[in-house]
Amino acid sequence: MTDSTPPIASFTHRHLLGIEGLSPVEIELLLDRSESYVEQNRQADKKKSVLRGRTIINLFFESSTRTRTSFELAGKRLGGDVINMSVSTSAVKKGETLIDTAMTLNAMHPDVLVVRHADSGAVKLLSEKVNCAVINAGDGAHEHPTQALLDALTIRRRKGRLGGLQVAICGDIAHSRVARSNIHLLNTMGARVRLIAPRTLIPVQAERLGCEVFHSMADGLVDCDIVMMLRLQTERMKGNYFPSIREYFRFFGLDYDKLSRAKPDALIMHPGPMNRGVEIDSELADDIERSAIREQVEMGVAVRMACLEIMAGNLPDPWQRND
Ligand code: CP
Repeated sequence: MTDSTPPIASFTHRHLLGIEGLSPVEIELLLDRSESYVEQNRQADKKKSVLRGRTIINLFFESSTRTRTSFELAGKRLGGDVINMSVSTSAVKKGETLIDTAMTLNAMHPDVLVVRHADSGAVKLLSEKVNCAVINAGDGAHEHPTQALLDALTIRRRKGRLGGLQVAICGDIAHSRVARSNIHLLNTMGARVRLIAPRTLIPVQAERLGCEVFHSMADGLVDCDIVMMLRLQTERMKGNYFPSIREYFRFFGLDYDKLSRAKPDALIMHPGPMNRGVEIDSELADDIERSAIREQVEMGVAVRMACLEIMAGNLPDPWQRND
């Protein structure tokens, strides 16, 4: 944290539903707070009592490895009580609606609900029905704010800044909440964003997002500082978007040859889960000289600690929030 970092109380949002709408100062505040947890997570004793007495419920309606685990670790390392609600064994399977599930959990007085849902907008809807803070852990193809924050922290640590960098986001942008949150964050922080994908995987009116659009890796990667790869999100696809996996990798899979168009020190990133040999060459993904993929996972815990601390710290007194 720098001397000029504003206090966490200056982050006044009740919920963290997306990056869109956050100011550069608010993003810096979240990143600075996250930075302070990176070193703590590398110590033998990782525990703090910042969230002592607080309850965090992870409510994931879609599968997750990184996000769910890191929110659980983050909550526990800050001394909070963390519950992982398993949707597959919950009353959701008996037909309980999203709202009824949320109201039921709300009646147990949690302080933070961390929610992932397959439908864009579902997390916002839920946030309007509860008294606690809600953090969006990914809603449909809409936003995944903590992923963009951990990506930004990784970039800032490696490159020393976000402003002025040329970032390429490549692959299935049309179905990607990670891409959307990153575009908002990078544009807000003064980076320049290129989207590289086949025409079928670029969202309509992509230029309105403030990005340059390319349909060729050879053209789009020229002089890039950061190359972010995205997997094909087949779970959200209806129909055929490309002729075959083999063809997709040939034209849009990142390998050493295509990467040679970017800057010599260009950093490779991927939010995971990765599909090796589809959007990224396996050897390149593991190349510690070029790839920051494992570092992204590490930064994820620090970012989620900062988000939990800030959102829990923003809650009004329980008596004033009608718990
Ligand atoms: N990047 C990401 O959201 O990964 P998980 O689906 O494993 O949480």
